[in-house]
Amino acid sequence: MSQTVNRILEKKRLNKSDLVSLLATGEEERKLVFQEAASIKAQYVGNKVFYRGLIEFSNLCGKNCLYCGIRSGNKSAHRYELSEDEVMQAARYAWENRFGSLVIQAGERSGANFVGRIERLVGRIKDMSKGELGITLSLGEQSEQTYRRWFDAGAHRYLLRIEVSNPELYHRYHPRNKTHDYQARLNSLYLLRKLGYQVGSGVMIGLPFQTLEDLAEDLLFFKKHDIDMVGMGPYIEHENTPMYRYRDKLIPKTERFILSLKMVAVLRILMKDINIAATTAMQAIDPMGREKSIKVGANIIMPNLTPSLYREDYLLYEDKPCTDEDAEECKRCLEARIHMAGGEIGYGEWGDSKHFKKRRK
Ligand code: 5AD
Ligand code: SF4
Ligand code: FES
Repeated sequence: MSQTVNRILEKKRLNKSDLVSLLATGEEERKLVFQEAASIKAQYVGNKVFYRGLIEFSNLCGKNCLYCGIRSGNKSAHRYELSEDEVMQAARYAWENRFGSLVIQAGERSGANFVGRIERLVGRIKDMSKGELGITLSLGEQSEQTYRRWFDAGAHRYLLRIEVSNPELYHRYHPRNKTHDYQARLNSLYLLRKLGYQVGSGVMIGLPFQTLEDLAEDLLFFKKHDIDMVGMGPYIEHENTPMYRYRDKLIPKTERFILSLKMVAVLRILMKDINIAATTAMQAIDPMGREKSIKVGANIIMPNLTPSLYREDYLLYEDKPCTDEDAEECKRCLEARIHMAGGEIGYGEWGDSKHFKKRRK
């Protein structure tokens, strides 16, 4: 088997069956995959880890994804929205601590007030930081006009996970209606690219009914759509969601974690110069989850800046870490963890995806 793995790792172009083989590796062979990913990372992106301070702006959401703890159908979620002052305080913290960039994330909404508030906040953050803070948005599917307004206000990256690239599976994990349409989501990714955003996407790993072939297709999806940055992590069940009923069909959490690490490593091998996030969901399963992701290819971390009071409410899945901590604690904690993983923090830098820069040229 390790011979086969070695042969695959020597290939210039990986096809679907190569990717499946790499994802299927057992304990010994997967070390080869991890080593290769680490060496590609060192060669193409170096050991710098860039921060994106995460502001979970609101857990109000108009959608009802069947896996998500803050879906509109979960009536037991306590809903909140940060005030503009709270956002500005978090942004100032990021700027003063030289985080380089921010991510503003929230459930998906499209009302005029919401769109205007985000636009104003983006502008205020740009002014406050003298243009120094990079701003990433993660606010779901929006109209072209909304995306343009936010871009013009100063946002330059956008995260929109495809969640699962197989349309059939997509419709299995989402209600079958107009607001949860695979093609519409794909179209949003095209619009973002057209408008000039650096485009991020991602998937969940270890979903019920998902196969290694599906995951290999997810990786090829990122390649086909020439995605600049990827955030992906294990699917983690949440009690108040319809998908909880499939919990017996899931692979054990530790296996979901290993599979997620393999996805990060194989993606680094497939797309050498993109940005890959060490996601929070990795740490929900393994206390060292983010460090391990960094070792096998990830180069982005999103320290949580949401005011402590609200963290418990942005509960997408069980065991989400950092809900009892504040910005300062997460900062210190992450610094130690990144150093342990042999990384260096890219303070004060935007850390744009090298891939994006190359496409621009
Ligand atoms: N497990 C893991 N990730 C989840 N997300 C939502 N619900 C879950 C869950 N139960 C992810 C989705 C979404 C991101 C903000 O959180 O991929 O895009
Ligand atoms: Fe809303 Fe996003 Fe959760 Fe779907 S995954 S319900 S869009 S917050
Ligand atoms: Fe939040 Fe470690 S990163 S407590």
